Amino acid sequence: MTATTVTGVEGEERNDFTKQESRQIRERSLRLLGGLLHPLRWRLALTLVVVVVSTAAQVAGPALIAFGIDTGLPAVLKQDWFPLAATGAAYLVTGIVGAVLIAWYTILSARISQAILIDLRKRVFLHTQRLSLEFHESYTSGRIISRQTSDLDSIRELLDSGINQLVQGVLYMVFIAIALFSLDWVSGAVLLVSLAPLFLLTRWFQSRSQRLFRISRVASAKLIVQFVETMTGIRAVKAFRKEKRNEAEFGALVEEYRDVNSRVIQLFGIFDPGLVMIGNATVGVVLLVGGFRVADGHLAIGVLLAALLYTRRFFDPMEEMAMFYNSYQSAAAALEKISGVLEEEPSVPDPAKPIDLWHSAGQVTFDDVQFAYTRDRVILPNFSLEIPAGQTIALVGSTGAGKSTLAKLISRFYDPTLGAVMLDGVDLRSLHPNDLRRAIVMVTQEAYLFSGTVADNIALGKPDATREEIMAAARAVGAHEFIQALPNGYDTDVNKRGGRVSAGQRQLVSFARAFLASPSVLILDEATSSLDIPSERLVQEALQTLLADRTAVIIAHRLSTVAIADRVLVMEHGRIVEDGSPEDLIAGTGRFSQLHAAWRDSLV
Ligand SMILES: Nc1ncnc2c1ncn2[C@@H]1O[C@H](COP(=O)(O)OP(=O)(O)O)[C@@H](O)[C@H]1O
Ligand SMILES: [Mg+2]
Repeated sequence: MTATTVTGVEGEERNDFTKQESRQIRERSLRLLGGLLHPLRWRLALTLVVVVVSTAAQVAGPALIAFGIDTGLPAVLKQDWFPLAATGAAYLVTGIVGAVLIAWYTILSARISQAILIDLRKRVFLHTQRLSLEFHESYTSGRIISRQTSDLDSIRELLDSGINQLVQGVLYMVFIAIALFSLDWVSGAVLLVSLAPLFLLTRWFQSRSQRLFRISRVASAKLIVQFVETMTGIRAVKAFRKEKRNEAEFGALVEEYRDVNSRVIQLFGIFDPGLVMIGNATVGVVLLVGGFRVADGHLAIGVLLAALLYTRRFFDPMEEMAMFYNSYQSAAAALEKISGVLEEEPSVPDPAKPIDLWHSAGQVTFDDVQFAYTRDRVILPNFSLEIPAGQTIALVGSTGAGKSTLAKLISRFYDPTLGAVMLDGVDLRSLHPNDLRRAIVMVTQEAYLFSGTVADNIALGKPDATREEIMAAARAVGAHEFIQALPNGYDTDVNKRGGRVSAGQRQLVSFARAFLASPSVLILDEATSSLDIPSERLVQEALQTLLADRTAVIIAHRLSTVAIADRVLVMEHGRIVEDGSPEDLIAGTGRFSQLHAAWRDSLV
């Protein structure tokens, strides 16, 4: 089933791909790129025309100067002003056209790159959100964050500057070479010869910088990972006094990053002067060779001037073009990783032909279910269970028995490997996702509050709830008192100072949320574990009204919860080992009666 996708995700940041895998990854990237560019194809074509014309206009300058000097000036001496005036006017026009078009090009290309980025950003967010829990449990948050931040940044960098510079640079150099050859092929030949050292220098720079940039990217990724890990685990860091060790580790990483960056700078320290030197030497040779030919009368002075200007300008875009390769490489790597996430399929797919369940009674059935997170370890070997509508079940068992797994299967966070989980006889896999979410609600220990007010957080259970309904839900679970005591009552922002609530209070809010949602099946997975005994009592009283007419599965450590259950299930190693009413099980001699006796003793 889903084991292959899991390895796919984990393999994402490997480097040892086989030839075939590399080809698939490249194809995947290209598919994504095609999908991003296709809607923009007409704009791209227009942009290309604009940049070609604007570059041609810019390159026309020196040739016009040559014409002005060699043809315009002699004509002026013969009282004919027209050629010089025409040249001046042409120079002005090409200058203005070049400037206007380059401005237009800048706007067009910026719009295109912004369109691509916004498209990609949305796709990454929406798709990551759509992926099933299985993906999120194996793909670390640090990696998700890099997809949305540094990866998109390197693509932005390529689009914003890299591609522009490459297109402009290449066109500029090609047009200059054409202009130079058609004006004076000897100078053109000199330029051609200078390409040899230029090529060697650039290649040297590229291979060095490629290696260094890769090391630099790895070093910066390590920094981010270390940072994210430390800050997400800050409680454990503080509890175990890991600060000193972290300081040393982070210090080493920072230095590694600095070292590689200073090596990059040194590389530029050689490459930049090298470019200037080759450029100057070429200009010198063009001047020397051209100078002799002017003296001989074989070359017009204006043409020599134009040749010098062209040669000089030819080298201008070189540095940026050499850098293009690096930004291209990091953007390509980023696109590969992003396309990997985007092609990940949800392991819990929405049904093709969903069945609507307008009113759910709340009958839950496990029909010969087998379940495994990974292929090598089956958690539920062969599980069958019938929970009649309206029954309150207490599920107990030691840690790792599979209780939360059962809860996740009922909520369809996962699908069974074999068999089926059903609600009112409908396989959860065919149930309309909206009906599923309305009918089944799970409250866990990690009561998460989103930024916003307390009222907003409760209303998550029913977005169109009135303030009265929200308050009634809070009252029902015993959350009303503490919410009223907050600085702004129900309108207190949970992320603002004063709005901070304790773990227990967060759980009360999530109970209110579930109460408001009013599902037909409610699952509480150790949902009362952060509450103190009095608060838990309060919630339990509330639960009795809350659970009266719905199906409930309560997973709890404290056996007091069991008192409100109609039926107790004891689970071990993925199997139900005891099943009965609380009274019967306590009276018996099984595991539950032992647990219960131990619990009662601990209270004395
Ligand atoms: N996301 C997961 N991937 C792989 N194994 C898991 C995952 N979640 C739980 N398990 C394994 O499944 C077994 C049952 O876990 P769980 O249902 O959480 O137990 P309980 O809630 O009863 O303590 C455990 O052995 C645990 O290691
Ligand atoms: Mg659990």
